[in-house]
Amino acid sequence: MLTLYLSYAYLLISSAVTVANAAAEKSIFLLAGQSNMAGRGGVVNDTWDNYVPPESFPDLSILRLSADLNWQLATEPLHRDIDTNKVCGVGPGMAFASSLLRKDSSIGVVGLVPCAVGGTNISEWGRGGSLYKQLIRRAEAALEGGGTIRGLLWFQGESDTVSREDAESYKTRMQNFVFHVRADLLLPVLPVIQVALASGEGAYVEMVREGQLGMDLVNLRTIDAKGLNLEPDGLHLTTPSQVLLGNMLANAFMQTRPSAMITTNIASTIISQNFLTQFFSLGYEQINKEGAVEIKVDYVDYRSPASKDVPRKEKVEVNPDTGDKASDYANPGEALSSRVDLSHSKFDPNK
Ligand SMILES: *[C@@H]1O[C@H](CO)[C@@H](O)[C@H](O)[C@H]1NC(C)=O
Ligand SMILES: *[C@@H]1O[C@H](CO)[C@@H](O)[C@H](O)[C@H]1NC(C)=O
Repeated sequence: MLTLYLSYAYLLISSAVTVANAAAEKSIFLLAGQSNMAGRGGVVNDTWDNYVPPESFPDLSILRLSADLNWQLATEPLHRDIDTNKVCGVGPGMAFASSLLRKDSSIGVVGLVPCAVGGTNISEWGRGGSLYKQLIRRAEAALEGGGTIRGLLWFQGESDTVSREDAESYKTRMQNFVFHVRADLLLPVLPVIQVALASGEGAYVEMVREGQLGMDLVNLRTIDAKGLNLEPDGLHLTTPSQVLLGNMLANAFMQTRPSAMITTNIASTIISQNFLTQFFSLGYEQINKEGAVEIKVDYVDYRSPASKDVPRKEKVEVNPDTGDKASDYANPGEALSSRVDLSHSKFDPNK
């Protein structure tokens, strides 16, 4: 069993990570979760009213990856060939993309990868399950034509409000989902924007929301859908609500850090030992005196060599340097997020 002890390790995401060729490349976003991500805006009694709001109009700069893995001009309903057991309507994806294009001219072409499926619970999204595999497969296919996966948009949890046990487990299950997606896509700080529930199928909506709002992973942002208007079913966001949500998702995404990894002491250490691919699961973000964002980690998973084999059971322990004083930072009070509260023992990288 191999254990590495690094006395001081951090991942440096330099502010220069800006997306040099962004204009030419696709900015790819994965959309996953359940019905409110798939979109039920304008769907009443299993019929979509066919109304597309201006914010969700097609745009030559917005593409979608179809179920048969072709890029095409994106139009509503975005999930029509993915979430096929139900009638789809308007979701947040198109409004998100057009909002992003308005806010960030360097974003280039936005490539949306719809993956959400109505009625699914967080356990079904676990690594190894068909939804998870489908998500990873579609993400990898999306990259084939070039581009960068810039973020994961996630709206799910309504199905986990029925039993207390599921509601209580939501936070841990969701955190594991994020770790696994980041590990399998080799994007350890992939921006994740999740939506705290506006509704639910059961009595434990508040409990799931607490789990969501209390999640504090690196480069994860949580926006709150509570209070947005719902369709008469009391479960699904209306079309205008979905447009609002798309804007909120874009605003939250703008506050995340780029997904590209630049340098990592850990990676170089591990690579030098023939272990490629490091995955830290907890850490916190800080801005150092050069103004760069540092993500400090104290727990790392790895697999070898590269992504071919199964993740290793052993874990690399990274101990934060005790000599690393707050005064090393220009604005220690402005750390972007606080320490992550996650018990190591709950995370099994093989699950
Ligand atoms: C939907 O179905 C309900 C019950 O059958 C009915 O009262 C309502 O008018 C229908 N709404 C629409 C928009 O068709
Ligand atoms: C999740 O949904 C699946 C399929 O409906 C079901 O078999 C399973 O029991 C659910 N899991 C939990 C933990 O609720």
